[in-house]
Formats: sequence, C-alpha cells, structure tokens
Amino acid sequence: MTLQDKNVVVTGAGRGIGRAIAEAAAAQGARVVVSDVDQAAATEVADTTGGIAIAADLSKAAEPERLVLEAIATLDRIDVFFGNAGVDLGAGWQVEDRLWDVAMGVNLMAHVRAARELIPHWLKAGGGHYVVTASAAGLLSMVGNAPYSVSKHAAVAFAEWLSISYASRDIKVQAICPQGVNTQMLQDSGAVKDLLSHDALLEPRDVAGQAIAALSTDAFYVLPHPSVADYALARVRTPDAWLTGMSRLSDRVFGDA
Ligand SMILES: NC(=O)c1ccc[n+]([C@@H]2O[C@H](COP(=O)([O-])OP(=O)(O)OC[C@H]3O[C@@H](n4cnc5c(N)ncnc54)[C@H](O)[C@@H]3O)[C@@H](O)[C@H]2O)c1
Repeated sequence: MTLQDKNVVVTGAGRGIGRAIAEAAAAQGARVVVSDVDQAAATEVADTTGGIAIAADLSKAAEPERLVLEAIATLDRIDVFFGNAGVDLGAGWQVEDRLWDVAMGVNLMAHVRAARELIPHWLKAGGGHYVVTASAAGLLSMVGNAPYSVSKHAAVAFAEWLSISYASRDIKVQAICPQGVNTQMLQDSGAVKDLLSHDALLEPRDVAGQAIAALSTDAFYVLPHPSVADYALARVRTPDAWLTGMSRLSDRVFGDA
C-alpha cells in the first residue's frame, strides 16, 4: 500500500513517533492532518510537511470526536487514522485519580472516542484503517509505572476488539508495540530509560517506516523490536517464571517500594 493521495490523520504528531509518521506519510504523497495538544508544534509540522494542523487535547472527552469530525470536514474522507498520541506520566500506582484519568484518557479513551465517529464513517465509506500506537508495555508490563502499563494493555485490548468486530467489514486495525524509541518521552522516562533501550534503541523514523510498511500486511501486531514477540510468548507459556523475573527486575530498578 502506498499512501499516495490517501487522507491520513496522525495524533500526537507534534514530535517524536507521530511527527515521523506524518513526515513519512506526506513524503509518500498523502494529505495529512497533523494533530497535537501542542498547537504550535502541530502547526510547525503541518507547515513543513504540507499538512493541515488541527489541535486537540485528547485527554478531554469530546475532543477526539471533534478532531475526527473536523478532519472528515477538511479531507472529506479519512483513509488511515494513526491514533499515536500517548502519555507516560512516570507515575507509580499510588498517584491521585487525576493522573490515572489523564493516562486512561489519552492512552485508551481517545481511541474509543475517535472510533465512535470513525467506525460509522468507515462503515458508510466501505472501509478504513485504524493504527494504534500502543507499546510493548501493552503486551508485557512497564515496571514501576502502573497507569502506563494498564492503559496500554487496555489500548491493545480495544484495538483487538475493534479488529475482531469490524475486520469482516473492511475495517483494518493494527497495533504498534515498540520498546525504546529515541523521543522526548524516552528521555523523560527516568529509571527505566536504560531498560527500555536495552534490546535496541530505535529512531522515530524507523518506527514510522515499519508502521507504514505494515499497512499493506495483514499483521495485527507491528513489533519494531522483534524480541517483544519472544517476551510475550514467554509471558503466556510460563507466566509464573515471567512474573518472578519481572518482579526481580522491578526490585532491582525501584527497590521494594
Ligand atoms: N518513545 C518510546 O520509547 C515509546 C515506546 C513505546 C510506545 N510509545 C508510544 O508512542 C507514542 C508516541 O510517543 P513518543 O515517544 O513519540 O512521545 P513524545 O512524548 O515525544 O510525543 C508524544 C506527542 O503526543 C502529544 N500529546 C501528549 N498529550 C496529548 C494530549 N492530551 N492530546 C493530544 N496530544 C498529546 C505530545 O504533545 C507529543 O507531541 C505514544 O503513544 C507512546 O506511548 C513510545
């Protein structure tokens, strides 16, 4: 699949992986809506890629739906929606509800809310393509960070559910699950930064390239770090050994807090 003349929306496109996806899509000839909570960043990326900026704070109810409706009004039809925006608040499980709400809002509910408008749009149009940037943390776990792990597991679960429910109606869903990618989020990840980079530290353009190449495959999971598949298998096949290993890792990084 080439994105030539396709209409694409990328969220969290002001920097990092989202920016790289927007740039790669534009380079293939797509019309790209560049969305971010950071309006200036979205505008700058749109200006440099020939895209259209639509700012949206996806932690807020109604904003994902507004983004989709504005994008449809602008592009007429959305072919591919990259739900890429995500937050890592670096928070332990004890943090206040407000931070759990932001993590669940951006990392999970933004997908649910966007889908409320996208699925009817695609059922009417005869198909569409939703790509969730989840995380390896959504298949495994991120030690020390409950809101990120839980919200990314939920994002993968919702993507699976969408795929199961709508594949027969030509709505394709894929989940990108990277480990360490060299972005601001990784730079801000504190104690787990080295851990995330352990297998390989990828550049955003590498992940964007794999995400776009995967559009023409039937793969549900897009795993830029292939070792994630091995870890996920070990987690399912030998769960007790897996949990013991992860627990030791957590203690090593964070003590027994
Ligand atoms: N960097 C990594 O190592 C890594 C690994 C696995 C998964 N991911 C996932 O990849 C995606 C992109 O992350 P990144 O590494 O490029 O991070 P990043 O922090 O560099 O970029 C995230 C972008 O999302 C935007 N954003 C944040 N909150 C938002 C909100 N409420 N509404 C709209 N936009 C918002 C930010 O302004 C920023 O432009 C995220 O979903 C992240 O969880 C990243």
